[in-house]
Amino acid sequence: MTKKLAVLPGDGIGPEVVNEAVKVLERLRRDFGLKIELETALVGGIAYDTHKHPLPDATLKLAKQADAVLLGAVGGNRWDTLARELRPEKALLTLRSELRLFANLRPAILYPQLASASTLKPEVVAGLDLLIVRELTGDIYFGEPRGVRTLESGERQGFNTMLYAEHEVERVARVAFAAARKRRCKLCSVEKANVLETSGLWREVVLRVAKDYSDVELSHMYVDNAAMQLVRAPKQFDVIVTGNIFGDILSDEAAMLTGSIGMLPSASLDAANKGMYEPIHGSAPDIAGKGVANPLATILSVAMMFRYTLNEPSLADNIEQAVSRVLDQDLRTGDIYTEGMKKVGTSGMGDAVVSMLGS
Ligand code: IPM
Ligand code: MG
Repeated sequence: MTKKLAVLPGDGIGPEVVNEAVKVLERLRRDFGLKIELETALVGGIAYDTHKHPLPDATLKLAKQADAVLLGAVGGNRWDTLARELRPEKALLTLRSELRLFANLRPAILYPQLASASTLKPEVVAGLDLLIVRELTGDIYFGEPRGVRTLESGERQGFNTMLYAEHEVERVARVAFAAARKRRCKLCSVEKANVLETSGLWREVVLRVAKDYSDVELSHMYVDNAAMQLVRAPKQFDVIVTGNIFGDILSDEAAMLTGSIGMLPSASLDAANKGMYEPIHGSAPDIAGKGVANPLATILSVAMMFRYTLNEPSLADNIEQAVSRVLDQDLRTGDIYTEGMKKVGTSGMGDAVVSMLGS
């Protein structure tokens, strides 16, 4: 059956990197029997410019109907002064909550070819392969009440609410335990249970779920210590499960261990494994339109889509191997460039991956 893919390029470097991922999809359609139909729609700042809303109804409808969503990036300085409801980031948050994408998988894998691109010593990061499972539809990101109020003194006070219900913790914990089971069977749950009630409950629920996964070795870590351990000895981790805001921060940190945030894909999944796939790097307005952005995170996001939503693991392997071969050929975009390598731009990198597919 033909699968429908919603393609939402978005802002900044989004359209450039998505373009390369689409080249990969088209090659797979032409030569590998992939039955897929692509439909593109506007999201983020560009949607605001055109429709006065960052997530037009038609885009949300398309995303809901599609079997999977491929998203580039949203945001840019130009839209930072808009009301919060109209900012590009709000489109992303609404897509996540409307599609109920509660489990965000962010792998941080260091390709051996890039060991010297990391700012950490090669022996600290060589062979790194960790997975952050970030809860994506709860926590302080969505908790009510929120706002800015004026106190009796006349001073203004900003407030947000950190919330987790037991079922929200349980379902993301199950995703994380199941993922650990397919890997090295180690799960570290990260929270701040020494201070926050939300985190205390989080830990209780994780411990309860753990009874169904006795083959997985579970540990708990406070988020401040986890931030430190990630740079001190990142290879101690296999799978990390954590809440929305802690996961936001730790996943950027984990990304940098690998040398470049330009390499890292992500999957955001619902209870039935329908997903939205996006590179984690964001819209990078400083390099947008220059043709220098690294498209590999987006291309690797397509590989994740085949693995998690479209049940085509051999196509996922095909893409991942093509990326590895391109790195073997010393091709590098600026973000992962080191001396002696061959510098290529966005489309040069995309074309190289396409030419390696199935070879
Ligand atoms: C991410 C981003 C988003 C988040 C922003 C753009 C809303 O930082 O996907 O990590 O905070 O979740
Ligand atoms: Mg982030």
